[in-house]
Amino acid sequence: MLKQTKIVGLGHYVPETVVTNHDLEKMMDTSDEWIQERTGIKERRWFTYGKETVASMGTEAAKKALDQAGLTPDDVDFIILATLSPDYFFPGSGVLVQEKLGIKEVGALDVRNQCSGFLYALSIGDQFIKTGMYKTVLVIGSEIHSHGLDKTTKGRGVTVIFGDGAGAAVLQATDESDKGILSTHLHSQGKYAKELVVIGPGNMTPVRLDASNAEDPTIMAPIMNGGTVFKHAVTRFQEVIYEALEANSMAKEDISLLIPHQANLRITQFIQKKMELGNDRVYSNIQRYGNTTAASIPIAMSEAYQEGRIKDGDLVCLAAFGSGFTWASALIRW
Ligand code: UT7
Repeated sequence: MLKQTKIVGLGHYVPETVVTNHDLEKMMDTSDEWIQERTGIKERRWFTYGKETVASMGTEAAKKALDQAGLTPDDVDFIILATLSPDYFFPGSGVLVQEKLGIKEVGALDVRNQCSGFLYALSIGDQFIKTGMYKTVLVIGSEIHSHGLDKTTKGRGVTVIFGDGAGAAVLQATDESDKGILSTHLHSQGKYAKELVVIGPGNMTPVRLDASNAEDPTIMAPIMNGGTVFKHAVTRFQEVIYEALEANSMAKEDISLLIPHQANLRITQFIQKKMELGNDRVYSNIQRYGNTTAASIPIAMSEAYQEGRIKDGDLVCLAAFGSGFTWASALIRW
């Protein structure tokens, strides 16, 4: 019989440096009022060059998650790291976490699915546990956006949204057949790949590594058609949440806590209103961290757990939407 996968430990790490909307006002033509009204964000964290990396933040989050689980790096059988901002173009950053944690020579996989990255990673980890191939899987989402953003007025539509940070979850099998990850649901629609994209370095420019690319923020920094992303997000979030509920013969009333990818507080509030979920049943921390893409769900889940908002027996719904487009959900009986 297939096993059920349980999250046995959670942890997160965010850089110390707080960047408020007022700090951004000094770099570009924007305002605290605009940012808060459109996104709900008050501040975000930015890494310190030379101090933090995607791998180092992921490692710190992982240490906390392993501690919470009462496990050590030696117990880890497989690492999955989701990021859109890897430390190197290649290799992936998962191998760097393996090195930093001093984990034995287990497999390390990087996932490139942007805002949905953590849920894709979670679903992969879930399959390895379910089949009995691995006993303990470390799943990490870690991002450094601040290093690649256009911090001039030209980039303001994107730059004010994103922040840095990392979150991690430790997965293990459970014998309680009614608990753990009930199902995961993954989707993509490459037709919209260019609606939220970083073009370089890549193969869509005449020269992959042209030095002049670095001087052109439209090549090296994220480009987003915000309105299109917003419109698709509010539809897909709901679709994929209902898909998860239907797959388990459940209804929205059964959700104890919805932890959406922290894309924009307005997106979350739109879904919350449509689904008639009270504030106590939806988790938001975007106000403090901005959108940390693959790191946003594990950071939020880790904080929600610390704050006592996830309890034994709760039905937790995770959902994400972002660049790709990709979108995904997971339903977990805690
Ligand atoms: O994680 C998943 C991926 N991302 C998302 O889910 C984001 C989805 N999209 C959004 O959250 C919103 O589209 C944004 C918050 C990015 C933008 O909000 P919007 O209401 O769609 O604004 P807009 O891009 O249509 O711009 C409205 C106006 C424009 O000025 P004009 O042309 O009306 O004069 C922009 O130039 O606001 C201006 N603007 C800004 N003004 C001050 C754009 N960015 C800023 C800014 N500060 N940071």
